[in-house]
Amino acid sequence: MMENSQFERLLLVCQNRTCKKQGSAKVLAAFQTFDIPNIAVEKSGCLGKCGNGPMVLVLPEEVWYSHVHIDEVSAVVEKHLLGVKVPFLNLRSNE
Ligand code: FES
Repeated sequence: MMENSQFERLLLVCQNRTCKKQGSAKVLAAFQTFDIPNIAVEKSGCLGKCGNGPMVLVLPEEVWYSHVHIDEVSAVVEKHLLGVKVPFLNLRSNE
């Protein structure tokens, strides 16, 4: 499925009719604004989940996102694709 083997992972955004009506072109464009190392962002045909779009699939881990809104794209990139972790803070007080 991956056309370019330089990438380890693939993010697909459905661009078929139903998802497109639900805004998938804008979602694809939003993902493409990020430079995500080792991840190819590509449009796809129907992912078989019509009516739940815009649908996004991340491979090879097979993580699905449904009803993706452009405002949620950065969270998917940062929390899932880049794995940015919030640093643990030890808030124990000094006596
Ligand atoms: S049209 Fe997007 S999953 Fe079918």
